[in-house]
Order: sequence, then C-alpha cells, then structure tokens
Amino acid sequence: MKTESVVQNIPFVGRKRSLIDDARKERASGSSSPGPSRCDDNFVFEEKEGLVKLNIIFALSNEENAAFFKTGKVFETFEVKLLHIESRPARKLKNSSGCNDLEFFMKCEVHSSDKDIFINSLKRIADSVRTVQEEKVPWFPRKIRDLDKCQLLVTKYDPDIDQDHPGFSDPEYRKRRCFIAELAANYKEGEQLPRVEYTQEEVATSAGTVYQNLRSIYPDRACKQFLDGLEQLERECGYGEDSIPQLRDVSAFLKEKTGFQLRPVAGLLSARDFLASLAFRMFQCTQYIRHASAPMHSPEPDCCHELLGHIPMLADKEFAQFSQEIGLASLGASDEDIERLSTLYWFTVEFGLCKQDGTVKAYGAGLLSSYGELIYALSNKPEYKPFNPEETAVQPHQDQTFQPVYFVSESFEDAKLKMRHYSSSIQRPFQVRYDPFTCSLEVLDQPCKVQYALGQIREDLKILHSALEKLGCGLNTEPE
Ligand SMILES: [Fe+2]
Repeated sequence: MKTESVVQNIPFVGRKRSLIDDARKERASGSSSPGPSRCDDNFVFEEKEGLVKLNIIFALSNEENAAFFKTGKVFETFEVKLLHIESRPARKLKNSSGCNDLEFFMKCEVHSSDKDIFINSLKRIADSVRTVQEEKVPWFPRKIRDLDKCQLLVTKYDPDIDQDHPGFSDPEYRKRRCFIAELAANYKEGEQLPRVEYTQEEVATSAGTVYQNLRSIYPDRACKQFLDGLEQLERECGYGEDSIPQLRDVSAFLKEKTGFQLRPVAGLLSARDFLASLAFRMFQCTQYIRHASAPMHSPEPDCCHELLGHIPMLADKEFAQFSQEIGLASLGASDEDIERLSTLYWFTVEFGLCKQDGTVKAYGAGLLSSYGELIYALSNKPEYKPFNPEETAVQPHQDQTFQPVYFVSESFEDAKLKMRHYSSSIQRPFQVRYDPFTCSLEVLDQPCKVQYALGQIREDLKILHSALEKLGCGLNTEPE
C-alpha cells in the first residue's frame, strides 16, 4: 500500500478535461443560441433592409366591439405585415367587466422608422401593449434515439495532437485509441454495446495498478453509497484486480438498480450533449484505457475514471436522481446556464464531498478515480465551502492541478433539494418531464399535458396512501 508522502509526490501531468471549459467555448462561439439583437427597449429580430420583426402582445376589451377593427386600421396605416396571430382569454382588464376580453399575440414586420409610432398608436386602442423577446431555444433531444445526434466531440487533450498527452509518442497506443473510438462512433441507440477485448497491458494498468491502489484507500475516504455500489459491482460485474468489466454488463447492472444506462462515446463530448444525455438517465462512457506510463492520473476521462469514479455512484437511487435533474435542467438552456450547470456538475458529480456520520467523505468521480487527489481533498490542505448552487455555479475551477476549494453537501437529499431549487430559477419558456415508459421527454407546453401528468401523480399518491394503510400507518387526518 502506498503511503501519503509517496502519493503526494505523484506528479500531476497535463490538464484535466472539464465540461466547464467546453461550455465556455460553446458560449464564446455563440453557436447554439443566436439570440436577439436589442433596439431601444424593444426586442427586435432580423432587422433587414429597413424592416424589423416584432413580437407584440396586447389585450382588447370586448366591451368595445370595434377595438379589434381599430387595431386592424393601425396595422393597415403603418403597412405592417402580419406573420402570425394567436388569441386567448385575457386577465381582467382595467375598466372592464372582464367578460370575454381577449389577449392577442402577433408576430409582424414593420418599417424600422415606424416602429415606435406604430406601438404608441396601438397603445391608444389596446391595453397592456408590450413587445416580447422571441424565445430561441437551442435544440435538445426529445427521444432516446435522438442521443445519436448528441455526439458533438470537443478536440482537447487528444493523444494525436497534444504533445503533453502521455500517449502522444506511442503510435501503438494512438492506433488502439482510434480503433476503440470507432466502435463508439458507429454505435446507434438500441444496439448491443460493443465489447472490447482488452490487452494484457490494459488490464495491468486499469485493474492491476489503478484498481488495486484506489481500492486500498476507499474504505476511509469514500462515502457509504459509493462503497455499497462498488461491493455490488465486485460481486455482480467482475470488478476486481484481474479484469476490466465490459460496458454491456455494467449497463445492464445499472439499468436494474436505478434505470441508468451506458452508451459508448468516442471522445470528449460538448457540455450540452453530455448533460442532455443525463436527462435520459444515459451516461456517455469512454471505453479506452489511459496510457500505461501514467496509471495514477488521467487528464481526460477514460474507462478507469468512468467505471471506478462514476458507476458505483450511479447505482445509488438518490444520486441517480440528482444526476438526472442536472441533465433535465440543461435542456434548451442558454449557453450561460450550460456553463453554470457544468460548473455545478464539476464541483458535485466530479469533485463533490459530503458529510457522513460526522466526517467528510468523497462522492465525486474525479476524486474517486485519482489516488493523489482523493488523499489531498480529504487532508487539511484545501478549503471547504458548504454546497450552495448559486455560489458553486460561479466558482472558478482548477484544471491544472488539484482543486483549491471543494464544496461539501450536508447529504445527497440536501444537495438534490438545493439543486432542484436552483434549476427552477433557470429561465426557460417551458418545463419538461421525463417519461420513463417511452424513454422520452415531454415538453409541458399545453394545459392538457399538465393535467394528464397530474392525473398520473394522483394515481401514484393513491398507491402510496394505500401502502401506508396496509402498513398500519395511514395518514392521520384528524387534528391532534
Ligand atoms: Fe467524469
């Protein structure tokens, strides 16, 4: 067994792969969400050749029967081209009985020079006139098969191009990486996960060195949920010092435990694609092994990091739910929010600590797959802060060496509740709900969809109520 002093001398080679950097890069490139241009106080789109497109909402009292036709006159006067119109019952208007008042949403095109006077003219006739920003939501997967499209790879710390990568000057290693990456690139949702026949050297690196060393320090440092999951994986999936488990077997194990599944990924995914997969309880998992010359640390995720760091935690129901909720919050989110969610992911799922039985334990995969950092994180050297999503989401992270700051959760339940509260503050014009029966995401954009979902929840509540009664602890509705 290694001593701490030996371990602290293990050099930290290269740079860690961070979703945060990926997210920042995407945001800087502005590739996913074009957004509006701003003009005065109104949001204006596609200002071209002297014309602007407006999204305008106004309400009309039905007590003034001619109001609708008067607004039509305004549109006619300013030669406004109507592109789209919707109406719905309005909330109660001033000076109106409120009966049958209507609110209108119109998308229209107007001459730039007429924009202000057109809006002011409308205000003389209609109530609550306002222009609204058009919601441009980045694409996100709706069905599990859509994950085949979530394969945007980020070129960073690649053995083919990065001279600091331990495998850069090893052509055999690069060839092997290409072969395994191709298996993942050709994979389509619903197919059997590809098996990889690992070489003796790969088994010696992963199972022999990495597993053996980390396993020896887990009991004092890893959280209970991790240790429980790992013991089950040792019993059921061939985790040990002699072999590298296959993704197919591990995925089947996880599916039974928490509904999470694995799919092979060819390399580093964009933050948006990676987080979106979590919404489907799908974990994108590398299948290649780190270079034999640097067994104790990998600057990028590899199969050792995924299998040892992530998988035992994903076998825990509470943690699986926590991971999925980060994924759900990311769907259709702005690039800024993706960056903040990636930072939260970094300081929780990758480098999170939690309190258990009066001591601090590790649950982050980046810690549980790195011998040196696991010991460092639980020493008196780094700073600890309580997990608070608002603060954690903007904490600068360290990808050149160990983290100077770690966030400590009171419990997973506490982290989940705080995360849920944070997610609800993310500005999105819709809410989504995962349907486990169809493995798809339902956008709750119509009252009937919400009603249907409520009906399902009511049925579930009846079952739970009945279960409590059968257990002899029915809900007490009598006042005490
Ligand atoms: Fe990871």
